[in-house]
Amino acid sequence: MQGQALPGFRDSYPEELALRNYIFTTWRDVARRYGFQEYDGPPLEPLELYVEKSGEELVQQLYTFEDRGGRKVALRPEMTPTLARMVGARAQALKKPIRWFSIPQLFRYERQQRGRLKEHFQLNMDIIGEPGPAADAEVMAAALDTLRAFDLGPSDVRLRVSDRRIVAAHLAARYQVSGTELPGVLAGLDKWDRNPAETDAILRKVLGNDTRVGPILGFMSGLREQADALQRLPVAEPLNECCSRLEAMGLRQFVEVDFRIVRGLAYYTGVVFELFDAGNSLRAICGGGRYDDLLKEISGIDLPCVGFGMGDVVLGELLREHGKQPEAPTQLDAFLVAVGGEDVDPVLKLASQLRGGGLAVEYALRNQPIRKQLELAAARGAPRAVIIGPDERKAKVAIVRDLKTGRQRKVSLAKVRKGIFR
Ligand code: HAM
Repeated sequence: MQGQALPGFRDSYPEELALRNYIFTTWRDVARRYGFQEYDGPPLEPLELYVEKSGEELVQQLYTFEDRGGRKVALRPEMTPTLARMVGARAQALKKPIRWFSIPQLFRYERQQRGRLKEHFQLNMDIIGEPGPAADAEVMAAALDTLRAFDLGPSDVRLRVSDRRIVAAHLAARYQVSGTELPGVLAGLDKWDRNPAETDAILRKVLGNDTRVGPILGFMSGLREQADALQRLPVAEPLNECCSRLEAMGLRQFVEVDFRIVRGLAYYTGVVFELFDAGNSLRAICGGGRYDDLLKEISGIDLPCVGFGMGDVVLGELLREHGKQPEAPTQLDAFLVAVGGEDVDPVLKLASQLRGGGLAVEYALRNQPIRKQLELAAARGAPRAVIIGPDERKAKVAIVRDLKTGRQRKVSLAKVRKGIFR
């Protein structure tokens, strides 16, 4: 089939691209307001950048192949390992804390479903070099402010926060989950919300089908009731500090402490969070957390990090659901109409002058009756047509026709050239 894009990949027609551009512009604006600098990296990376660091699930979703030089490479499925490598390479020279953002296109061989594609764009905002909850709260505030910038409030989106240290301490003390078992167990618990049967299967695989699986599943289902008790433990101090900072920023009404959030990626080490639509009908809009060991594993430099990724797919669905998608932009300022063949050159000259002055203009690319040209002008959404014929040229004027009202008037060519149409 040559008539379709690959499953899970998008053809972006102008309306869809208008939505994406609106998302990107808003992302960049919020990142600027938080003092983040933009960076980018290569879309193709060495395979080993992801193996073991990102976790088994992501590695199974890699687009990977051997290049012509015999290197094992992968299309990037996420940005965080690239960021860790880039920061590691210049760690000495960079002023800490580093606040960087990026909007990469990412590739994951996932089964296509609502909110999941094989390709998506993701806003990444990360703070590097700051170990405390102040940085955790700062990136969470940025994620929330991004959604506020799309006019979404606490009744539309919820931030669910947790801390892997609390859940891990509990799993170790109560169920003797070892350090090597922990990443697999957390990856299993990450599935709990959407698919408890998958959690069960993963735990049985990781823990070898032993007697701890049932009690751990019981612990997960009772976590809501235990939340207050867990929050009173000393290990919950950073999480509580984070929540009070969000409160001081006026964002507390978005936040729910929810220890069922553990995140699926292997490298998280502390506070973790996800953003969901309040109706909980979509997948996570955004996910992130603290990952203090990844930079050391990738580049040998020991620097604490925290950040998040926010995808354009789920966010786009949410914006469409709320009727907040922009119209495909119709940017024309004027459509120029040539009455006869001899008027074409003057029209070209005027088009060039107006474009040089920064205005958006179009004209028919072949000789057509005026009616046809006006039809095209209306179809393009131009607010006005500027009509030039032999009489107008002689009188050094143009006819400016308002395409909404149909009213028209003569305006001197000298004015029109400057973009003045009345
Ligand atoms: P993640 O949870 O894998 O985290 O992805 C973050 C967000 O990207 C998700 O919440 C979702 O909105 C979007 N996303 C992920 N996969 C897909 C997909 N197949 N189709 C559409 N959207 C998708 C990370 O990638 C971490 N590296 C984020 C991070 C940055 N953590 C710290 N810094």
